[in-house]
Amino acid sequence: MRVFVTGASGWIGSHVVPELIRAGHEVSGLARSAASAAALTSAGVEIHRGSLDDLDVVRSAAAASDGVIHLAFDHGKAFSGDFLGAAEADRRVIETIAEALAGTDRPLVIASGTLGVAPGRIATENDEPDLAHLPAGPAKRSETAKFVVSLASRGIRSVVVRLAPTVHGQGDSGFMAGIIGIARNTGVSGYIGDGNNQWPAVHVIDAAHLFTLALENAQAGSVLHAIADQGVPLREIAEVVGRKLHIPVASISPADAPAHFSWLATFLAMNSPASSAQTRELLTWRPSHPGLIEDLDLGHYFERQAAGKF
Ligand SMILES: NC(=O)c1ccc[n+]([C@@H]2O[C@H](COP(=O)([O-])OP(=O)(O)OC[C@H]3O[C@@H](n4cnc5c(N)ncnc54)[C@H](OP(=O)(O)O)[C@@H]3O)[C@@H](O)[C@H]2O)c1
Repeated sequence: MRVFVTGASGWIGSHVVPELIRAGHEVSGLARSAASAAALTSAGVEIHRGSLDDLDVVRSAAAASDGVIHLAFDHGKAFSGDFLGAAEADRRVIETIAEALAGTDRPLVIASGTLGVAPGRIATENDEPDLAHLPAGPAKRSETAKFVVSLASRGIRSVVVRLAPTVHGQGDSGFMAGIIGIARNTGVSGYIGDGNNQWPAVHVIDAAHLFTLALENAQAGSVLHAIADQGVPLREIAEVVGRKLHIPVASISPADAPAHFSWLATFLAMNSPASSAQTRELLTWRPSHPGLIEDLDLGHYFERQAAGKF
């Protein structure tokens, strides 16, 4: 297939692209800067120069493709106070892609997340998040994911891949980098309360493989879970981080958590395990790369002072 990928230069995109090329697909990508264009060109990707606001570029790139994987999201905007603005821009991009693909039965695969889908219990692919209990920005993103599922009725093989909150591996600058940065800065590797609350996790190469399988084989209107570890207790994560940084591991009370963890506190308090049993069965997806604790133990997260992107 000729696959148009937004966010191809990002953390997950840079792993999806080689998976697609290995599987025999031709890849084109959106590049908003010369640096991203250069990185994509050297990865064998044809360039469409433009940003997420250049809807004409997005429309023509999608129309010229046999399928789209939408991974771009403006985390810079979202995590500097305008999450809703980033989510609204994301919705406009997806509506534009949908206009280009309507009636073609071509695939549109988008990235979403499992965090907060079914708080306190194991979320499955069948669960729908309760939008009323989410802040406006994340609620907008979840509503957009629902919209994508509905595109099946407009002749699009639409697929939502819900990712674990921590997609981990070499070069990750997401939540794990944020957690490690706070531990370094405070001299304490903390967890909130008893730390028994759980986050699911997936290795970036396993996630990238799932995007390829979804593009090729998932049915219209599918929701898939890119989850390898169903739930890792936050205390276990803090213990590895403390051991690797040679600093004490400590419980932080919920009252002190916002001061200690800043904006990450809300996320670190969540108990959000998730299953991928249906996804594994439907697409014969078998995650095979290291789990989160093993990956942290490998040491690459601690070799450099990564600036967290979130
Ligand atoms: N990483 C995780 O743990 C995780 C977990 C759950 C869900 N997700 C979701 O998975 C998707 C991919 O995440 P990621 O970790 O790969 O993100 P990332 O590393 O921040 O990459 C984001 C990509 O979007 C592009 N982008 C951002 N703003 C843009 C704009 N205004 N115009 C054009 N391109 C723009 C970036 O281009 P540049 O290269 O030019 O910056 C980059 O290619 C996102 O939807 C994310 O929210 C990620």
